[in-house]
Amino acid sequence: MKLLTILFIVTLSTCFCQDTITTIAFGSCMHQDKPSPILNIIPSHHPDLFIFLGDNVYADTDKMCFMKKVYKRQGKKSEYQNLKKSTPIIATWDDHDYGQDDIGRHYIKKKQSKEIFLDFFDEPMGSERRKHDGIYTSYTYTVEGKILQIILLDNRTFRDDLLEYDGSLKSDSLYPYKLYYSPIQTADSALLGEAQWKWLETELLKPADVRIIGSSTQFATQYNGYEAWANFPKEQERLYNLINSTKANGVFFISGDVHYSELSKREDTGTYPIYDLTASGLSEEWKFATPNKYRIGNAIMENHFGLINIDWKAPGINVKLEIWDVNNQLRIEQLINMNELK
Ligand SMILES: [Fe+2]
Repeated sequence: MKLLTILFIVTLSTCFCQDTITTIAFGSCMHQDKPSPILNIIPSHHPDLFIFLGDNVYADTDKMCFMKKVYKRQGKKSEYQNLKKSTPIIATWDDHDYGQDDIGRHYIKKKQSKEIFLDFFDEPMGSERRKHDGIYTSYTYTVEGKILQIILLDNRTFRDDLLEYDGSLKSDSLYPYKLYYSPIQTADSALLGEAQWKWLETELLKPADVRIIGSSTQFATQYNGYEAWANFPKEQERLYNLINSTKANGVFFISGDVHYSELSKREDTGTYPIYDLTASGLSEEWKFATPNKYRIGNAIMENHFGLINIDWKAPGINVKLEIWDVNNQLRIEQLINMNELK
């Protein structure tokens, strides 16, 4: 008898025919005109799924014919085709594939760029995701009677403008670089928008044993003057409160955007420990890692991808979070028992 049986339940999105979900790879920030050799390494880890967390291309345009060409170039790369051949892919977007650097709801071509994004990732024509504003969606898998939920957020379509840095912090030794944005303290500052919040509450009320929330921008990091959830502290708090009020167990975050990797852990949010594993840099690199008091260990500056291994048979279910670099070296490793996330 087959040891692992999986029942795949579709919620709002694509159905993959798979036998099991134990290994999930993810990453972000892949320029269409740069080689991405790390994509050739990922299949050797035999992931059951790959999640693109945004900046899946660098389009940065309101010319949709140009955007289509950019996606076409990405899709033609042999390393992308290798990944696609071996591994089912799901995705959300960040700013550069949405349309413009650090932009939110005021990007004028968001409906058109959504269609291009969904077409590229083979979203079925009649799917719910095509019917509502934005691209947020979720996937649910049942493995041996245990439930895995993957929630992909849309941090762009409904997000208010960022607040330009107001000079209130001295750029001292903690911030030896130019700060771009200040936290927005107004109570109605929007990152997800009301429709997505309502949907997210419904999702978190569903039963699940392991819940992965994919957020294109970093969720659990310290304010650093660049873009992150830390620019919307009221929205960040709202999500901590929602995890509490829905009693959603097993939540951890994966994120992208910053062109390096780090694992953040927050224990000061009024709920259980909140982990956020950032994998950002399939082809892109950044010069330095910004201050983050929630970081565990070191930031990884070389190209890399994230890997999530789920041991469904371990008492309480074990989840191993990993980062592998472009030399196929294991750089970050964190074991979490799901009993910790209750
Ligand atoms: Fe990026």
